[in-house]
Parts: sequence; C-alpha cells; structure tokens
Amino acid sequence: FHDTSSLNVKSISIVSISPMLTLYLLWIGSIKNSWYRTPLAGSWGGGSLSTELSKPTSICSFDSPKEVLVLDCLRDAIFWPETPLLKSKFSLNDTSDPAHSTFTILPRNGGGSWQVGDQLRVSIRICDFHGRPKKSGGDFLLARLHNRTFLAGVAGHVEDHHNGSYSAVFSLLWEGNAQVEVTLVHPSEAVTVLQKLTQEQPDRIYFQSFFRSGSVTETTTCNICLNANQQKLCNYTDINTGEPWFCYKPKILDCDARISHAKGGFRQNITAMEEKLFQSGVNMKVSIPASGPANVIVLPKPKGKLQATGYYYQGAWQALDGTAVQQFNSTAISQCLKGKTVYIYGDSTVRQWYEYLTKALPELKEFDLQSSKQTGPCMALDFVNKVLLTFRSHGPPIRFGSMPVSQLHYIANELDRVAGGSDTLVVIGIWSHFSTFPIEVYIRRLLNIRRAVVRLLTRAPATMVIIRTANPKELTLYETLTNSDWFSLQRDKVLRAIFEGVNVRLVDAWEMILAHHLPHKLHPESDIIKNMVDVLLSYICPIAGSFKRNLS
Ligand SMILES: *[C@@H]1O[C@H](CO)[C@@H](O)[C@H](O)[C@H]1NC(C)=O
Ligand SMILES: *[C@@H]1O[C@H](CO)[C@@H](O)[C@H](O)[C@H]1NC(C)=O
Ligand SMILES: *[C@@H]1O[C@H](CO)[C@@H](O)[C@H](O)[C@H]1NC(C)=O
Ligand SMILES: *[C@@H]1O[C@H](CO)[C@@H](O)[C@H](O)[C@H]1NC(C)=O
Ligand SMILES: *[C@@H]1O[C@H](CO)[C@@H](O)[C@H](O)[C@H]1NC(C)=O
Ligand SMILES: *[C@@H]1O[C@H](CO)[C@@H](O)[C@H](O)[C@H]1NC(C)=O
Repeated sequence: FHDTSSLNVKSISIVSISPMLTLYLLWIGSIKNSWYRTPLAGSWGGGSLSTELSKPTSICSFDSPKEVLVLDCLRDAIFWPETPLLKSKFSLNDTSDPAHSTFTILPRNGGGSWQVGDQLRVSIRICDFHGRPKKSGGDFLLARLHNRTFLAGVAGHVEDHHNGSYSAVFSLLWEGNAQVEVTLVHPSEAVTVLQKLTQEQPDRIYFQSFFRSGSVTETTTCNICLNANQQKLCNYTDINTGEPWFCYKPKILDCDARISHAKGGFRQNITAMEEKLFQSGVNMKVSIPASGPANVIVLPKPKGKLQATGYYYQGAWQALDGTAVQQFNSTAISQCLKGKTVYIYGDSTVRQWYEYLTKALPELKEFDLQSSKQTGPCMALDFVNKVLLTFRSHGPPIRFGSMPVSQLHYIANELDRVAGGSDTLVVIGIWSHFSTFPIEVYIRRLLNIRRAVVRLLTRAPATMVIIRTANPKELTLYETLTNSDWFSLQRDKVLRAIFEGVNVRLVDAWEMILAHHLPHKLHPESDIIKNMVDVLLSYICPIAGSFKRNLS
C-alpha cells in the first residue's frame, strides 16, 4: 500500500539459472540507499551488523553479507514514514483522532459521470483531538469501497503524502452505488509505540520447553534469541536451514531431555499513556467520516487500469488476474482433488482450509494421528478418489499449546521431503506468529522456504505451490501489541517481495478480507474461507480456456 513502488522487482524473470542468484543480482541492482540501515533491535541484533564484538554473540542477526543486502532492499519495500517521537508525558489531544478527521471524494478526472473502469480518488485529512490538521504522515489507514445490496466490495490503496493528508485510490468495478469506507487502524503515534516494542521487547511473547528424564522434570524459557552466555543455553538451531532456537539450560537435566514446546506467555509492558493510543471505538480501527457524500453512482463502461487483485460481487470473489474463479460444491471439490495429494504447511489460518475441506467432503475421512487439533499434524484420506490431505504446523516460533519437539518441523525441511509432480499441491501460510519479532526473523524464514520451493520446482516443475498472504484482523490491546495489522502489513509486503518471480500462486487473503463486509478476523468466517478455497481450487482446476499457469 504505502510506497510499494520503491521495490523495483516487477520485471523479474527466472528461467534456468539459480533463482536465488537472480533475485540476489536483481536486489543488488535495485539498491538505492545501501547506507540506510536501522540498527537491529537491542540485545537481539547489533552484533554482526554494527561490528561491536564486545556484545554477547548475536544469534538473531543476519550473518552473511548476502543476507544483509537482501535485508536492505526489503527495508525499502516496507518503508514507513517517520512517525512522531513520543515524550513520556504526551497529550492524547495532540494525536490523530478519526472523529475529527475527514475524507472527501474528488471529482472525476475530466468531469462527467463515473464509469466502470474509472479510478476513484479520495482525499483524507487527518486531524488531532482538537481538530487541528496533522502535519506529518505515518498514520495507518485502510480503505474499502462496497455495496451491501450487491455483496460487492474492493480494497482501496492508500498513499501517504507525509503531511497529514492521504489519498485512497479505488477501481470502480461494478455498476450502481459504491460507498467509500476509510478506517484509521492506528494513529501514527501508535505506530511509534509498536516500532519501539519490536526494538526493545522482541521477546514479549515467550515460549517454554518441558524437559524430562526418568522422574526428573524441568521447564525453561525458550525463544529465537536469548540474551545469555552460550554455557547457559541449549542450542536447538536447525542444521539444514540454520533457523535459530534456544532454551535456557535446565539446572539438572541435559539439553537432550527436551520433550515438548509450548507458548509461554506475553509480557505487556507499555505505559498507561501509551495504552490510550490503542482504544477500540476511539482511535483503533475506527471509521473516518466523510466531509460530503460518501458514495458515487457508477455507470457501465469497458474496464481500464485496475488497482486491486480482485473484488466481491454477489458475495463471490472475482479475480482480476485472469483466473476465472468458480464456485465449488462438494461434488466439484471431489472432482478437482481426485488423485491429488495436498500438503498444507503453516499456521492456523491455513489450517482453516484443511478444516473447510474435511468438512465439505464427506468422503474425505480424517485419520486420527493422536495429535491435538490445534497443533496437528493432521491427515485426511479419501480412498475412493485417492485424495490425501495433510496439515502440518510451521516450526518455532509457534504459539500453540504443548506439542512434542519431534513434531516441530520447519517448512523448508518438509518441502525437501516432497517428491512433487502434477498431482501434488503445496499450500503455505506463515505470518501471524512472527509479528512480535524483528522483521529479520521473518525474512530469514521466508528465504529458507523460498530456496526449498525453488528446489522443489526445479526437480518437479509441475508441482503447484500456493501461498496464502497475511490478513487484517480484529484488534484488542493484547492483539495489537502482539499482532497488530501494522505488523502484518510489513510481513505481507516482505512475503510478496520475496516470492515475486517464483512460480507460485498467491491467495490474496489481505484484499479478500479487507474487501469483504464481514469483520476483520484473524480466522475469517466461513463465507470468506469458502471464497479463498474457491480461488485455490480455481488455480488447481482452471476451466478450459481460462488463465494458464506458466510452467517454465
Ligand atoms: C484535551 O482537550 C480537552 C478538550 O479540549 C481538555 O478538556 C483536556 O484538558 C485536554 N487534555 C490535555 C491533557 O491537554
Ligand atoms: C500534502 O502533500 C500533497 C502531495 O505533495 C499535496 O498535494 C497537498 O496539497 C499537501 N497538503 C497539505 C495540507 O499540505
Ligand atoms: C447498491 O447499488 C444499488 C444500485 O445502484 C442501489 O440500489 C443500492 O441501494 C446499493 N446498496 C447499498 C447498500 O448502497
Ligand atoms: C548454535 O548452533 C549452530 C548450529 O550448530 C551454530 O552455527 C551456532 O553458532 C550456535 N550458536 C550459539 C550461540 O551457540
Ligand atoms: C519494560 O520495558 C522497558 C524498555 O522499554 C525495560 O527497560 C523494562 O525493563 C521493562 N520492564 C519489564 C518489567 O519487563
Ligand atoms: C454441484 O453443482 C453441480 C453443477 O454446478 C450440480 O449439478 C450438482 O448437483 C451440485 N452438487 C451438489 C452436491 O450440490
């Protein structure tokens, strides 16, 4: 949304040379500010980037120069305008207030009536609680155009002019009435707090492992990084991927006695004043009123340039990339998945797809692997139609209930064990559990997955790989400090940039939830899940003559 144009990877094309190298070269080519580098978070990073060797070994920073370079380019992709510094005794009155802010629909370019295919521009003015216009940018806004009668909706793109004014741009995609909705997700001052949290308290979500040998049991805290001497730590860094993971050494037991992993908890540590920046109904996910009319009437006309990846009409997602999205009932799903193996890897947002499919297909029977529903792994089989469907959680950090360490698998390692082929579908969804960590942690994970996807597509090019993007969700204070849409947006941009040019298809969960009339939810409601699965199945089983996948 904000300034994505600064990542210049649009025309990437990967043929037979090493894709990672291509990406790497491309990134070198697009570096603009190679000196621009914000220091990595406190005790988490520094080390290898700032060359301060006296600090404890940094186990969270990027080590190789190649990865530092990639990081620099992605920093451009997730650039966010500077947000106000907060004094310890700031006044809420000086911060952005949706109730005093307004949006205005701008007249059509060239005058006349609005037509399908036109771009609608809306100007947004953000003011503080006294109604004084803000002079700097960085507020987090989302915009949507919709019509409830038609069950129609499309996401808008917001541009930040860095002076307190913003524009939202929409594609007009249906005839009739279209109503603008602009939401202040977070005031810029709240973004300052979220940034500070990631820098100063990247371990605010912590984890635990249970150790046991004979009758002796111990529990210690674990995380991607722990600020302690090597002698005090058990190092569970994955040998293949290099993904780091540490626990404090138990007092009595050996590191090898670790048997389970679980979410530990959340330490909330912000001031009462800062907390006021995250009030539902006041300044968190609150609609901004229109200064004049909030809707336009759209007349029919051939389509022009489009701003969205799709929109809803009659409640059904209409993709704009050429995919003809079909409606799959259980018979059609069965037909489509006949003879196929579907591996789903990731967090609970793709586990929802597993659950949807097992519910929709009476023939697809779950085989009880004696694992918990939440953590998986899960497996379902349809013997008659030869369908195998599995779900496996991604590796740590994962905030699930207790799971055996034997089941903590990294997606990249799993992908290396997939034979692949035209009857194999791989679905990946990994984002939500990374939101409290520095973005580097997520980038490293995605680069590992990307390399494994490229290896898979090299040995079995007909394999279809589908990635689910991040999505906006409901926000309470706890949810915000751990999982704000602002964190998700950064991760979403990184995901799109890293997989650009790889032969994978995206299911754009971000826009599919933003455009829909149902509330934003981490786990969207079944109407939206159905639409997502319809997109997934339309990729797998396109109707003859529609969009063809490039299998080069
Ligand atoms: C904020 O503004 C209101 C109304 O203008 C005023 O009553 C209140 O004292 C102000 N609060 C602060 C901390 O300045
Ligand atoms: C803010 O910047 C935009 C783009 O440069 C400009 O069009 C607009 O007039 C500016 N608004 C204010 C209030 O300065
Ligand atoms: C949707 O558009 C139709 C046609 O213009 C209009 O009659 C209807 O009132 C609109 N619905 C809403 C909720 O705006
Ligand atoms: C942890 O183990 C990995 C792999 O064995 C090694 O590369 C890394 O240096 C170790 N880190 C620490 C802090 O001991
Ligand atoms: C709260 O966070 C600050 C840094 O923002 C840190 O100095 C302090 O130790 C933290 N307090 C607790 C109880 O974690
Ligand atoms: C599924 O849809 C097809 C046509 O679209 C229809 O013929 C069939 O009866 C439907 N099956 C079920 C179970 O609804």
